[in-house]
Amino acid sequence: MSEQSKIQSMMQEKRLFEPPTEGQDKAWVKSIDEYEALYKQSMDDPDGFWLNRTKDLLTWFKDPTKGSTSDLNKPEVKWFEDGTLNVAYNCLDRHLTDGRRNKAAIIWQGEPDEDVKVYTYQMLHDEVNKFASVLKKKGVKRGDRVALYLPMVPELSIAMLACARIGAMHSIVFAGFSAMSLQNRIQDCEAKVLVTADAVLRAGRTIPLKPNADEALKDCPTVSSCVVVNRAGSDAPMQSGRDTWWNDEMAADDLGFVEPEKMNAEDNLFILYTSGSTGKPKGVVHTTGGYLTYVASTMQYVFDMQDNDVYWCTADIGWVTGHSYIVYGPLANGGTSLMFEGVPSYPAPDRFWQIVDKFKVNIFYTAPTVIRALMREGVEWTQKHDMSSLRVLGSVGEPINPEAWMWYHEHIGASKLPIVDTWWQTETGGIMMSPMPYATTLKPGSCTRPLPGIDAAIVDSEGVEVPANEGGNLVIRKPWPGMLRGVYRNPDRYKSTYFERFPGMYESGDGARRDEDGYFWVMGRLDDVINVSGHRMGTAEIESALVSHPAVAEAAVVGMPHDIKGESIYAYVTLSAGIEESDELIVELRTHVRKEIGPIASPEAIQFAEGLPKTRSGKIMRRVLRKIAAGVFDEFGDTSTLADPAVIDVLIDGYHEIM
Ligand code: WTA
Repeated sequence: MSEQSKIQSMMQEKRLFEPPTEGQDKAWVKSIDEYEALYKQSMDDPDGFWLNRTKDLLTWFKDPTKGSTSDLNKPEVKWFEDGTLNVAYNCLDRHLTDGRRNKAAIIWQGEPDEDVKVYTYQMLHDEVNKFASVLKKKGVKRGDRVALYLPMVPELSIAMLACARIGAMHSIVFAGFSAMSLQNRIQDCEAKVLVTADAVLRAGRTIPLKPNADEALKDCPTVSSCVVVNRAGSDAPMQSGRDTWWNDEMAADDLGFVEPEKMNAEDNLFILYTSGSTGKPKGVVHTTGGYLTYVASTMQYVFDMQDNDVYWCTADIGWVTGHSYIVYGPLANGGTSLMFEGVPSYPAPDRFWQIVDKFKVNIFYTAPTVIRALMREGVEWTQKHDMSSLRVLGSVGEPINPEAWMWYHEHIGASKLPIVDTWWQTETGGIMMSPMPYATTLKPGSCTRPLPGIDAAIVDSEGVEVPANEGGNLVIRKPWPGMLRGVYRNPDRYKSTYFERFPGMYESGDGARRDEDGYFWVMGRLDDVINVSGHRMGTAEIESALVSHPAVAEAAVVGMPHDIKGESIYAYVTLSAGIEESDELIVELRTHVRKEIGPIASPEAIQFAEGLPKTRSGKIMRRVLRKIAAGVFDEFGDTSTLADPAVIDVLIDGYHEIM
């Protein structure tokens, strides 16, 4: 389906799904009236609302007396600034005395079905303390950075919480990123320690990881130690003096309880790099008190997490969804979080449903791209398992098209379960717009309404709110506790990316419309960021990777609609003088991008183009390239400023040759 017709079908979507009545009386938010009262209270008195909320949800060493002291014009954002707390204490220690000591905190399901580990709160607490001692022995102090480049193994959660305990910032790099990407991120944040693994188990294969770490560390002088988790029992090369095995470190007999650091609410918690429309990925910074309050709060509102629930978010912790909704949100609430190492289709396309059945999962949170891929495999895979334990389903990462929504509702949700379509971003820390499962009437394809505390609006290019059903820029007009506090060591970029275009507001970069009922319909990015299988990729990053290959003179990358991935990467490449076009070169360019950024950035289509559509002032007209990549050849808009309009026909011919 073309992008246009997808948007059309969403605009015509009129079906309504009422919230379930069964279980409503036990829910955190029981009715739409209750939602509306909370929302009103949060808008009338944001400070009072959030101070109450944080005291209800978290345990502070010193209670904050102030809500927010923020000015989005500057921008300056602070929440709870006179309070002190520790994230690991909130996620672990306090649950040792609130009746949850022997409750499962993390159930880890490895890729091989027999690889299961269950960590009770007591066990997780002890492991985190041990690893916090290890980090301290390695000289990591409050404020230092620790890079984590790991697959979905329990050690990743343990290392995160150990950092939080001693006040060090973690910077997690998704294990699918290349050595170069890891190196850039380590260099940017000047990490002292790297934690990695020998290898990744994926779809039945063992993929070495340590060699990437070694390659990256060739030029990372700040890293003095590298701790290696032995996941696959493979023979990873170890550099003496720098590299040690996780198990050896954790077996030392001088490890023990580590006093949790008393952090100020505004002290940094972590950095997570994310793609923007220009330049290299930026290090989004989140702080302690506001972030934890926000993820704990949304965990309740959106997933209605209750004490007996088994909750499963299928994301990778390398992305923000895993940070907020596998680790911090669930554990702050004393919940049971399932962590899964494998993929949806291995050994067979019922892997997810088999796991739901195996652990009697109650709350299940995944991405539209997964739903679309599994939908294609056929309903018979869903029918092989008892999924009657489920009560809430969630979606994140990209707009969910009504077809995928309906399939999810019917075949996973037995035509009765609520689906929470959650809109948010790395920068927002937690979910911003979403239904509340027992309160909100659903419309397939809409993330419905903003959560309490979130003042979302759609504005035109002047920052003026547009009428209902008109598209525009999605902005947030009030600070909220979970919002990013900076781009690491780059205040100018922080300001210019999010706060300059619309003074006094946070600019999300997404386009959306709000319908006559106040429901939001997010359409996707307005900038040069593409969303491949729910993962954000900057076109500029991929272009610079392509151009760094000697055969390439110039490159322009756009997103093209893709049935399963949502979008995929389409690259127009102009070769350097004297270089011949060939199929081998296409393969080589793909390999080159994989090496520079990682497999997720590898272009689906590469078209050799002698010229690109440039204006007389030399700017590439990207909308023309986007249309051609989408197979749409008649909606180019005004092309009169092109230096050479004939280039368009040549590009269309090129499209037909490769597609
Ligand atoms: C997109 C992921 C529509 C959006 C949590 C946003 C969505 C970007 C939704 C952030 C949704 C995420 N409906 N679009 N429910 N959820 N997006 O930083 O374009 O990896 O700006 O955070 O994903 O991606 P990020």
